[in-house]
Amino acid sequence: MPSVYLKTYGCQMNERDSDAVAAQLVAKGYSLATNADSADVVLLNTCSVRDAAEQKAIHKMEAVAGRLRKKRPAAVLGFLGCMAQSRGGELIDQLPDVDLVLGTQKFHRTAGYVDDLLQQRREKIVDIDDEAGSEGTIREHLLNGNAPKKSVTTFVSIMQGCNQYCAFCIVPYTRGRERCRSIEDIFAECRELADRGVKEITLLGQIVNSYGKREIGVQDGKSAFVQLIEAVHAIDGIERIRFTSPHPKGYGEDLVEAYARLPKLVEHAHLPVQSGSNRMLKLMHRGYTRERFEELVGQLRTTVPDIGIGTDIIVGFPGETDADLEQTLDLCCEIQFDNAYIFKYSPRRNTPAATMPGQLPEAEIEARHTAVLKTVDEIRARRLRDHVGREMQILVEGPSRRNPARLEGRTRCNKIVVFEGATRHIGQLLPLRITEATRTTLYGDPAVLNCH
Ligand code: 5AD
Repeated sequence: MPSVYLKTYGCQMNERDSDAVAAQLVAKGYSLATNADSADVVLLNTCSVRDAAEQKAIHKMEAVAGRLRKKRPAAVLGFLGCMAQSRGGELIDQLPDVDLVLGTQKFHRTAGYVDDLLQQRREKIVDIDDEAGSEGTIREHLLNGNAPKKSVTTFVSIMQGCNQYCAFCIVPYTRGRERCRSIEDIFAECRELADRGVKEITLLGQIVNSYGKREIGVQDGKSAFVQLIEAVHAIDGIERIRFTSPHPKGYGEDLVEAYARLPKLVEHAHLPVQSGSNRMLKLMHRGYTRERFEELVGQLRTTVPDIGIGTDIIVGFPGETDADLEQTLDLCCEIQFDNAYIFKYSPRRNTPAATMPGQLPEAEIEARHTAVLKTVDEIRARRLRDHVGREMQILVEGPSRRNPARLEGRTRCNKIVVFEGATRHIGQLLPLRITEATRTTLYGDPAVLNCH
């Protein structure tokens, strides 16, 4: 039985796509390998959002090809996903060892193509075409029976693509225009997951609040996305619902209000702001102002006082001045994000920002990155410390990544909590007393567990 090594780069959407690819391969009789050097098939599911992510996958493939081809000349090497989509056949020109280049609308064809290549029915395959209906094909899951560990949390892809065309972003070119799955289809997938023991679902899309805008529309004052959340909310066994990412533009009051109405919707929002400067937001083509973002956060905090708020920030966008950066730092201090990912601007092919005037030198971007990171890390640590002494509900996900002798779970507001527990706690919702906070992690007191 041939074995496949599958490695994922980038976002949760990519993780989800890889899950579906793995499930499809396992269903066809392939086994999953944990090491590329002993595999018959090596697939890298790639990310294009920054150049560093592309380079990582390219270097990995070079290293694997060098070692593997010697031992297994007939091994199949493939790039999947976003970089495959944006670079296509040129990846094979650059790395002639690569046999397969498969775009973002073709994940469901992976097993078939891998079969063809292994059995030498075809020599090289590049397929990056559009495929109508491909958004509905990401639905296989590897859970329980076939997975190494039982999953209690999982991702559900609700849509593909993006129509926003932010000036820095390659995603509209790698993922295509927005296409959404039907509420019925997503509901059926979530119900099946609940039957298999999943308790927490994260609905995934590039801009989830654009879900079904054209296809489904508003009903009784509720956007299609809120209608979808309501449908998933009605499923017995699903205890928590998350979604990522919403866009501040078009984030309606119905979605704010849903938090007050729907108890399974957890107190967490990842709301990418990108910059605190209105001048930058405009150049980035974000479609909102800093004031609107502040208003939205205010509405969320009024409705859900303990909500955890995360964000993404880009530093070093072309033309960003010291004053613009100050605005971003000022916004971070004002909003007090629970978590913020800070990205160094990376010019991407075909994007308007790549040819804008005022590109900043790398050293300057680096310095700005360090400055913002320092500020947001301090805020995050302070906010974590504020949780000490509270009793919080966590969903226990499994062994702690740092110390497998302990368990870890997440609060509803998306904080990781590590505690001393027993295997039987995995998958349970438990109340824990928070006893300690480091700069990144909370620790819980197992005493509360005595009753379980
Ligand atoms: N350079 C740096 N960061 C980027 N992101 C998207 N495109 C770029 C780019 N060209 C960041 C944004 C987005 C996150 C997923 O990646 O902050 O929200």
